[in-house]
Amino acid sequence: MSLNPQSLPAAVSADAQAQAVDAAITSRMSARAFTPQPVPREVLTAILDVASRAPSGTNTQPWKVYVLQGRSRDDLVAKVCAAHDAVRADPSLAAQYREAYDYYPDKWVSPYIDRRRENGWGLYGLLGIGKTDKDRMHEQHQRNFRFFDAPVGLMFTLDKVMGRGSLVDYGMFLQNIMVAARARGLHTCPQAAWNGFANIILPHVGAGPDEMLVCGMALGHADATDVVNTFHTPRVPASEFTTWLD
Ligand SMILES: Cc1cc2nc3c(=O)[nH]c(=O)nc-3n(C[C@H](O)[C@H](O)[C@H](O)COP(=O)(O)O)c2cc1C
Repeated sequence: MSLNPQSLPAAVSADAQAQAVDAAITSRMSARAFTPQPVPREVLTAILDVASRAPSGTNTQPWKVYVLQGRSRDDLVAKVCAAHDAVRADPSLAAQYREAYDYYPDKWVSPYIDRRRENGWGLYGLLGIGKTDKDRMHEQHQRNFRFFDAPVGLMFTLDKVMGRGSLVDYGMFLQNIMVAARARGLHTCPQAAWNGFANIILPHVGAGPDEMLVCGMALGHADATDVVNTFHTPRVPASEFTTWLD
C-alpha cells in the first residue's frame, strides 16, 4: 500500500518530525495583541490549504471561511464595536444579538467554572484590571472586536442543515489553521466573542441565509512587547483526565 504523497518527508528524522510538530502545537497560544505587519495572501492560502486536510465525518468538509483584511476588516470592526458600545449604553439591545448555538453551558458547574474564573481573572490581573473596573473590562472585551489589532480576521460558518458532529469536525479544522500558522511564525486567537453579533457579521461578509457563524479568529504577527501575550494558561496533566483500561 503506498502512502499518501503528502506524508512527512523521509529525509527528516523521526525525532525532528516529532519536535517540529510538537513545537507547532505547544507554541500555539491565544495571542491578544498583534503588530500591523500584513500577512501575504500566499501564506494565508497555504495555511488554509493545509488546514483543509482536517478529517471530517464521511469527508463532509463542512467549513466555509471568510478572510477579512483592509477595508472589509476595518468596516466590520467599526460596526461591531459600535454595536458593543450601544449594548453597554442600553442593555435591552442585547436581545437583538443572539448566538446560533450555545458555545457555553447555561449553568456552570465545577471544575469548569473554576477554570473559567482562573482564566478570566488571571488575564485581567495581568492587565491590572480590577473587579470593579467596568470601563476597562469593556475596553478589553472590545479588543476582541478589533481582532486584537491583527491585520487578518477570519470568520467561519457552517451550513445550518448540518448536525452537531460538524462542530467536532470544525474544531479540527480550526486547530489545523492555528498550528499551520505557528509553523509559519504567525499567531492566532480563536474568538467566540463575535458569535453574538452574527446578524451584523453574516451580511457583512456576504454569507447566505443557510449559514451560521461558528466563530471568528484573529491572525497575524504577535506583538512580543505587549504584556498580554505573556499570559500562559495551565493544563490539567494527561494523568488526571486519562483512565487506562487493560
Ligand atoms: C472556539 C474558541 C473560542 C474562543 N473565544 C475567545 C474569545 O472570544 N476571546 C478570547 O480572548 N479568547 C478566546 N478563546 C481563547 C481561550 O480563552 C484560550 O484558548 C484558553 O484560555 C487557553 O489558552 P491558550 O489558547 O492561550 O492556550 C477561544 C478559544 C476557543 C477554542
